[in-house]
Amino acid sequence: MSKHIAIGVDIGGTGIKAAPVDLRTGEFLEERYRIPTPQPSTPDAIARTVAKVITKFNPPTKVPIGVAFPGVVQHGIVKTAANVDDSWIGTDLRAIIRDYAGHDVHVLNDADAAGYGEFKYGAAHGRSGSILMTTLGTGIGTAMIVDGTLVPNLELGHIMIDGHDAEDRAAESARDRHGYDWEQWIEQLQKYYSEMERLLWPDLIIVGGGVSKSHHMFLPKLRLRAPIIPAELLNGAGIVGAAAAAAVSTRREKDESKAAEKSAKDAAKKAAKAAAKAAQATPPPPAPETTRPDPGIVPMSFSATPVLEHALARLEPLSQSHRDDLADAVTPGELWRTWYTRIPSPDEMVAEIEARLAAQARGEVAPWAVVDAATGRAVGMTTYLHLDEHHRRLEIGSTWLGRDAHGTGINPAMKLLLLERAFDVLGCIAVELRTHWHNHQSRAAIARLGAHQDGVLRQHQVWHDGTLRDTVVFSILDREWPAVRSGLEARLATRMAGLEVR
Ligand code: BGC
Repeated sequence: MSKHIAIGVDIGGTGIKAAPVDLRTGEFLEERYRIPTPQPSTPDAIARTVAKVITKFNPPTKVPIGVAFPGVVQHGIVKTAANVDDSWIGTDLRAIIRDYAGHDVHVLNDADAAGYGEFKYGAAHGRSGSILMTTLGTGIGTAMIVDGTLVPNLELGHIMIDGHDAEDRAAESARDRHGYDWEQWIEQLQKYYSEMERLLWPDLIIVGGGVSKSHHMFLPKLRLRAPIIPAELLNGAGIVGAAAAAAVSTRREKDESKAAEKSAKDAAKKAAKAAAKAAQATPPPPAPETTRPDPGIVPMSFSATPVLEHALARLEPLSQSHRDDLADAVTPGELWRTWYTRIPSPDEMVAEIEARLAAQARGEVAPWAVVDAATGRAVGMTTYLHLDEHHRRLEIGSTWLGRDAHGTGINPAMKLLLLERAFDVLGCIAVELRTHWHNHQSRAAIARLGAHQDGVLRQHQVWHDGTLRDTVVFSILDREWPAVRSGLEARLATRMAGLEVR
C-alpha cells in the first residue's frame, strides 16, 4: 500500500463500514465493506466487528486507521453513547479496538469525522466562515468548522425542541419510528434547522448520512437563511474523514515521539557530562551493579522519564549521578527519621536509586530526581507508580523533598510537570495520590491541589516499624485537571513574583 493510503471505519447505529481511502483525492480505493452493527452493541461485540472490517483490507502496520464512533470521544475515551450500548461509556475506544484488530487506530466522533472529510475533500473544501455539518441517521450528528478549525464533540443533535430531544423527531430513524411521510419529516427538519440557525448563524449547512442520497426529496423544501446542501461524499464522509484525521494524528504522534526521544537523549548526554565532571572532582565510591532502564522504553510509555522543565524545578531521569546531592538533601532535619514516610538515609541513597531504576527496568515505575532549577542540585525524588496504561491511570508517589526545598515553589512546580505529562501527554483519565493517615502535612497539601479524597484503605500496609498504615487515597480526574492546573499556575505565579506561597 502506498503512503497516501489510510483506512477509515465508520461505526453507525445500523452498520459498520470501512474502506481504504486515497488521501490525495479522498476517494475510495476499493469498494466499501459493511457488516450490520451487532446487537446488543456492546464494546466487545463492536470491537470484534470493527476488527473484521479492518482485516478485510489486510493493512500493513504503517497504514493509519481512523475509527469514527457515534458518541463523544475525548482523548480516546467514549463519554456518551446515545445510540449504542450504555456500557460504552468510559471505555477506552482506541485500546479496545487495538486489542481486537492488532493494529493501532485513531478515534473520533462520527460527525466530526464527516465534517473533517467534507472540509478536506467535499462540499466545504477550502471554505471559510462557519460551516455546520449535520448527519441524519440513527441519531443526528453535528460538527462545526470555523475558518478551517473543527470544534470537536458538539452534541447539537440533542437540543430540546417542543420538549423532545431533537434527534428523536428529526433524525432519519424518526421516519420509521414515528411513521412520518416525507412532508411530516420535513416539518420536523424545518424546526430543527431553524433552531440551529437561530442559535449558530452558520454561513453554510451540509447534510450527510444515508438519507443525503435522497436530498432532492427534502432539501429544496427547507426555508433557511443559509444555503443547505448535501454532503459531496454523501454517506462516505465519515469513512473518508476518519481516514484523513488518522493520517494527521499518526504524523503528529510521530513528531512528538521524535521530539521526546531527542530531549531524553540530550538530557542523558547532559547527565553523563555532569557525572564525568563530578567523577573528575571526587573519585566515586565503587560503582554498584547498575540496572539501567531498558533502552527500549519508549518516551510515550508510562515508565519513560523524559526531562520535564519548569522555571523553578526540573525533573531529570533519576541516576546515580544524583546520589551526593540527595544524600545532602535529606541531612537537614534527618528526614529519614520521619516515621510516617519512607525517606532514605544518606547511607541508603545508592541502594534506593538502584531499587527505583530496577523497578523502572521492569516497567513498574517512572523515577525522577527533583532538581532545584536555581542551583542545579537534586533536592528530592518523585515517581509515577501503579502504572496502568490500559485504564490510563497512575499514581504520583514515593515523593520526598529536602527540608530546604520546602516553601520554595519546587513542590507545586513539580506537581504541575507531573500532572501535565500524565493528562496532556499520556492521556490519563485519573491520577492518584496516596499518603499515610498520619501525614497531615501531605494530606493538606494534596487537598490544596484540588484532589478529591476517594477514601481510606484501613490497615492497608504493615509499616516498616511494625505499625499498621491506614492509607488515604486521593485522585484528580481528567475533567478536574484544568481547574487544578489553574490553581497550581496561580500559586506559582505568586511565588515567581517573589511573594509567599506554600
Ligand atoms: C450522538 C452523536 C453522534 C450522532 C450521530 C448522536 O446520538 O450523540 O455523538 O455524532 O448521534 O451518530
